[in-house]
Amino acid sequence: METTILDSGYVAPAVEALKAGQLVAFPTETVYGLGADGTNAAACQRIFEAKGRPQDNPLILHVLDKPGLMALTLGALPTSAEALVEAFWPGPLTVVVPANPDIPEVVRAGLNTVAVRSPNHPVARDLIEGLGRPIAAPSANLSGRPSPTEAAAVWEDMAGRIPLIIDGGSTQVGLESTVVDCTTTPPTLLRPGGIGLDLVASVVGEVALASGHGPVRAPGMKYRHYAPKSPVIWLDRTNSEAVEAALSILSRDYPNMAVIAPESLPEGLVGQYQSLGRDAVTAAHRLFQSIRYLDQLKPDAIVIVWESEEGLGLAVKNRIEKAATTRVRL
Ligand code: TXA
Ligand code: MG
Repeated sequence: METTILDSGYVAPAVEALKAGQLVAFPTETVYGLGADGTNAAACQRIFEAKGRPQDNPLILHVLDKPGLMALTLGALPTSAEALVEAFWPGPLTVVVPANPDIPEVVRAGLNTVAVRSPNHPVARDLIEGLGRPIAAPSANLSGRPSPTEAAAVWEDMAGRIPLIIDGGSTQVGLESTVVDCTTTPPTLLRPGGIGLDLVASVVGEVALASGHGPVRAPGMKYRHYAPKSPVIWLDRTNSEAVEAALSILSRDYPNMAVIAPESLPEGLVGQYQSLGRDAVTAAHRLFQSIRYLDQLKPDAIVIVWESEEGLGLAVKNRIEKAATTRVRL
């Protein structure tokens, strides 16, 4: 299959492709999505094939607004979903609600709930409006790889597998939406993301955390994720002396290692280095881009230094944890 890159100024061909049941990769404010007509089961099935995605991992439906959500829900909206939508839509917040049974099974992976979000990106919104239906879209990476935050990263994974990629430049947030299951009381954080847990809690009060034990409630969270080709080693502290000592030991085992770390660290490092900046918002924006960039240089390991759970720090930490082959506890 030939893959064409479209300029984001003219999305009409992409709307036509979606109407015809084809896949289109497009920018959102979080990461690039791989979209299909969310009412077309055969089109949605193509998403699983193009990504190599396990069939038991459900998709997020993207809508314009609350009426769009209501059409996908069964019965009244849970009060927590109501409050979250009011506070954060359009934006990087996904609610899981009871599903209208008309939604194709392949989208829900057979569950009786559905994940819905309203993206805050003009291209994503133009596509939903043009199609006149919800767009089903996971992140536009091969399953298990880092989510793409620019069109070149989508191309790296998806060229030859999908017909169209819309190039909207680099995405603003840089990692995926926060997913909250609103069918439980209190609501449950299934995936930390672009809206910090502190903000979610300020709107709904208590939030339960999906534990690592028992049944997996966001099926996607059980797989190794966000993984580049090189092994990833996570140093889970930012105390600079300890980090420098650990890096010096690691560099004996991995003479060609690359490092991703907050701006203050490390001093006097040799080799390839990408800065995560001074704060968690910047780190979220840069993380996947840095991992993909360094991976192309084929280092013998990528060492990531991160500790904070403040604001978007929790989501950054979650993505590093899922990408890591090894965690070094300092
Ligand atoms: O920011 C985002 O959310 C991006 C952009 C494209 O919107 N999308 C995204 O989709 O990250 P994906 O498929 O990579 O991640 C969706 C997550 C998965 O962990 C999946 O298991 C979970 O949401 N999920 C989807 N439907 C669910 C449901 N009914 N119940 C529980 N978890 C669900
Ligand atoms: Mg994904």
